[in-house]
Amino acid sequence: MASLGVNIDHIANVRQARRTVEPDPVTYALLAELGGADGITVHLREDRRHIQERDVELLRQTVRSRLNLEMAATAEMEAIALRLRPDMVTLVPEKREEVTTEGGLDVAAQTGPLTAMVTRLQQAGIGVSLFVDPAAAQLEACRAIGARWVELHTGAYAEADWQRQSDELARLTEGSFIARSLGLRVNAGHGLTYQNVEPVAAIEGMEELNIGHTIVARALAVGLEQAVREMKVLVQNPRRDPLFGSLQP
Ligand code: PXP
Repeated sequence: MASLGVNIDHIANVRQARRTVEPDPVTYALLAELGGADGITVHLREDRRHIQERDVELLRQTVRSRLNLEMAATAEMEAIALRLRPDMVTLVPEKREEVTTEGGLDVAAQTGPLTAMVTRLQQAGIGVSLFVDPAAAQLEACRAIGARWVELHTGAYAEADWQRQSDELARLTEGSFIARSLGLRVNAGHGLTYQNVEPVAAIEGMEELNIGHTIVARALAVGLEQAVREMKVLVQNPRRDPLFGSLQP
């Protein structure tokens, strides 16, 4: 059964739209936990467009589930992670001009520096996950550099039209199989919604889904606690084939 990591970056996005103090992601992390979040995820971006260092500091003190810090593989971010000690660091690619994380990390192209950073973080007792596309070469590189976790990028699946969605689901399923046969533990996320999450949650060996935008959007209607509760039901008890059976000819 997969667990649910709730990404609260978008709460901070609303605050930063006015550069004021509300809504405070620290408060909303607590509500997400009350709704059943198994972990809280935040992305501290180089440009600080939503989450601020202060948020991560306070979340480290208040989160009672697990704190997952998404960050770029830079010296600045490594120093912050080593100081604040999240339970998990998820290394992601980052471009200033992107609206959100666009592709997976190209681990295969930077094994040297990544090996050193992953080793230092793990030696400090921080779990390290790498956000990658579900491609064999990337997964093998993750294994080679000593990571124990991967987060499979579900963006291509989420964006695929109904004709291509089952192919993308098959890539994720195969990616999960390859990762596990390499001894890696498997999370997934990006672009998952109440409508498309169930087939991904049902993939064998899937340990945790990290979901943000759709939950915060739903929270506008029903409140964050309830929005998390509804997502948790889908993640924990997914129907295996909710979309494809009805849509495919
Ligand atoms: N996982 C990673 C690595 C991400 O970068 C993001 C987006 O910040 C998410 C999961 C959550 O994506 P979404 O907000 O589309 O649910």
